[in-house]
Amino acid sequence: MTLLDLWLSRSIPMCLLLQSLVLMALCFPSASMCPKGCMCQRDPHLHGLNVTCSQSRLKEIPPSLPVDTILLRLDHNQIGAVPDQAFHGLRLLRELNLSYNAVETLGEGAFSGIEGTLQVLDLSHNRITSVHKDAFARLKARIIVDDNPWHCDCALQQAIGGMAHNHEAAARVLCRSSELRDQEGRPFLAVDADLCNLAKRTTDYAMLVTMFGWFAMVISYVVYYVRQNQEDARRHLEYLKSLPSKPKKPDEADDISTVV
Ligand SMILES: *[C@@H]1O[C@H](CO)[C@@H](O)[C@H](O)[C@H]1NC(C)=O
Ligand SMILES: *[C@@H]1O[C@H](CO)[C@@H](O)[C@H](O)[C@H]1NC(C)=O
Repeated sequence: MTLLDLWLSRSIPMCLLLQSLVLMALCFPSASMCPKGCMCQRDPHLHGLNVTCSQSRLKEIPPSLPVDTILLRLDHNQIGAVPDQAFHGLRLLRELNLSYNAVETLGEGAFSGIEGTLQVLDLSHNRITSVHKDAFARLKARIIVDDNPWHCDCALQQAIGGMAHNHEAAARVLCRSSELRDQEGRPFLAVDADLCNLAKRTTDYAMLVTMFGWFAMVISYVVYYVRQNQEDARRHLEYLKSLPSKPKKPDEADDISTVV
């Protein structure tokens, strides 16, 4: 009896403690666990983790990255997209290496939440053709965008305009294709053309042509209408002219004859 009491009094709190520990571990996996396919090393000087997920055949960015990640290596994978807010909550992230992946485009919020801390962003050797005009807008990081099949258009011009402090990156954007024929295969900054006004000018021309078309139609209709009416009027006039003159001659004769 006393032994059982003693055992119960000791084990119940122990059980509760164990249970709460298990629950805590389940509830906060991102704070402590290293993502599958990655290696996490604590850096004692920087008070954070170096997370290395290179060459891990990843098809997407690991969903639960440790919140104290400082350096994130995701290079040499098959990552096809960077969803909005993908790195949100990584308040210490300084360096992000996404080189040698299959990223095709970047949305407005791809790097949201890490604008203030990020210092290096490597996006080289991907399949990026276009980015949202504000994709790099508030980033202070050094951006590396070499070896991507860029399509040079108005949105890219705006995106590059947004990272004016990153002239080095902008200078390395080679246009695989472009709105302008003579820009293809050349550095984006080499051709001094305003691609946004180009698009606007094209729509202006289209509108002008359409308006001219309508105008021409209206004019030709008016001309046709006037001609038709003239014809009608002339025919009417001729009819009117012919009315009194033709029957008059015999009438006169008749009249004379009757009078006489
Ligand atoms: C983490 O990465 C940084 C930057 O590459 C390096 O200087 C540092 O030594 C690394 N720390 C560890 C523990 O690997
Ligand atoms: C990113 O990773 C690639 C491949 O390991 C490496 O060549 C490149 O130097 C890295 N980028 C930076 C900015 O360290």
